[in-house]
Order: sequence, then C-alpha cells, then structure tokens
Amino acid sequence: MIEIKVSATSANMGPGFDCLGIALNMFNRFYIEEIESGLEIIGCEDADKSEDNLVYSSMKRCFDKIGYNVGQRGFRIRIESEIPKSRGLGSSAACILGGVLGANEIAGSNLSKREILELATEIEGHPDNVSPALFGGMQVSIKEGSSVYNERINLHEGIKFCAIIPNFTLSTRASREVLPQNISHKDAAFNVGRASLLIAALSNGNLGLLRAACMDKLHENYRVGLIRNCNEIVSACSYLNPYGVFLSGAGPTIMNIIQEENNEFSKDIEDFLSRMKDKWIVKELKPYNEGAVVRNIKEER
Ligand code: HSE
Repeated sequence: MIEIKVSATSANMGPGFDCLGIALNMFNRFYIEEIESGLEIIGCEDADKSEDNLVYSSMKRCFDKIGYNVGQRGFRIRIESEIPKSRGLGSSAACILGGVLGANEIAGSNLSKREILELATEIEGHPDNVSPALFGGMQVSIKEGSSVYNERINLHEGIKFCAIIPNFTLSTRASREVLPQNISHKDAAFNVGRASLLIAALSNGNLGLLRAACMDKLHENYRVGLIRNCNEIVSACSYLNPYGVFLSGAGPTIMNIIQEENNEFSKDIEDFLSRMKDKWIVKELKPYNEGAVVRNIKEER
C-alpha cells in the first residue's frame, strides 16, 4: 500500500494571481492499494466515488504518461481528508498530487519532481497550489508552454496564517468565470509592483509592508460578489490589523497573515463571525516546509 501525504495550500496570496502559493500545515492522506479488479473509493462523498474521482483520474493520467499498463487489476483508494473541498485551500491540487505520486510509485517509475509538477499543473490548469503542495514552503511558479518553472521563497520567521473558512463552497471554475478577459495596463502594473514587494517583504521580514503588498486588482474585486459578506468580513479583519489579508486561491476562504505570537486576532474575528448568517470557521495555520511525502508501506515492513 502506498501512503501519500499532501498539505493544504493558499494560492494567489494577494497580488500573485496564478503564481504565488504557500503550503500550510493541514493535510490530506491518500492510501492506495492494488486489488484484483474494480475501483473502491473510501472516505469521500458518494458522488465522488466514480472513475471521475480526481485522485483516480490523476492516477490514470500518470499511468498514461509513463505508459504503464495496469491490466485487469483494480485499485482501492482511501482518502483521509482535513482540507475542506472547494474552499480555496488547495484540495484539488492535493487530490491530483495524491493520484500522480501514488501512480508513479505503483508503476515503479521515477518521474522527476519536475515531471510530476508539470503533469499535475497540466491537470489542475495552474501551478500556484500544486507547486507548494509538492515542494513545500512558499513558491513562485509560472507556466511556459508545457514547462513549469518554480522557485522557493525563503520566508522570514514570525508569521502565521489565520484562515476564515465558510460552510459554503465555491468552485474554481465558477470563480474563474467572473474574471474579465482583459485588464488595464494600470491594474497590471499595480499587481506586478505589489507581488514583487510581497516577496521581498516576506523574505526580509519587513512585515509592516504586507498590508499594501497584499492588495490585488486582478481577481479579488471580481470575486467578492460570489462570497456572501466578503467585504464586511475583510473590513472586520482589517480593523483588527493583521499584517495582510487576501482571498485564498479562488475563494471563498479569507486568509490573514498575522504575527506568530498574536492570539487575539482569531478570538476577535471569531466573535465577529458569530453574528453572521453563514457559519465561518477560524483556523490558524503555519507554513509547512516539507512538501508531499510518499511512503511504500509494504516495502517498509
Ligand atoms: N489561482 C487560481 C485562481 C486559484 O485564482 O483561480 C488556484 O486554485
């Protein structure tokens, strides 16, 4: 049996649309074993137990790439999931990597990390969740044709994240549909400057710059209408003075960067959220630097 552990991720990180992302200490674990025939999927909603399951379909994409023939054999996939689905915390990227890394191990193949990154990005469509989930830490990643280039950003110590997660979902597809086809030169320049400042401020520890550096004009304004009470909650967060606040991935989770020793922010925002109609969960998360881990449990015995 193969065990694959993949972390949650927060993508975009303000101005870094489709290119910045960070791995956080919340995990999905996938246990994959070969069985005589058929497909058994345990640990997800019934609607996700078909061959369209993202873990399984990603396994198939990996087997096809390697040219590995599974013959008549089937698979049992057990999913233990902490990452909530369709909340902007990288659950799709985790499932895709679970499938690709699991299939790569089963096939006895040794696709390089880069090949895995490129295949997983091709399946997901953009690299900003996949790259930190695979390599850990904060990553900047871009696509050039079928190639993906990524680089780790060394984070200065002293920060943690406070995720505000609603009980409603928002699919990335729906959230991308509201984005405009074109943006102005002024908005592009706004984001380039802030994305660069964000990286410099996070690596140098100049955390006072994060409030301005987390601003965005490429996606957030177009998406707030899809997230009930988003503006109100972001204003309440800003009032509590986090270092920065941004929409996590395609939403609907709202992410704050706060001081590592700050224990008040989460309590205060929880208090504010208790008055909302929807249920919002507050979860503190830390950067996770290790990247995805694959274990072949049978071989270890
Ligand atoms: N960068 C993607 C988006 C989110 O904003 O649509 C990653 O799932």
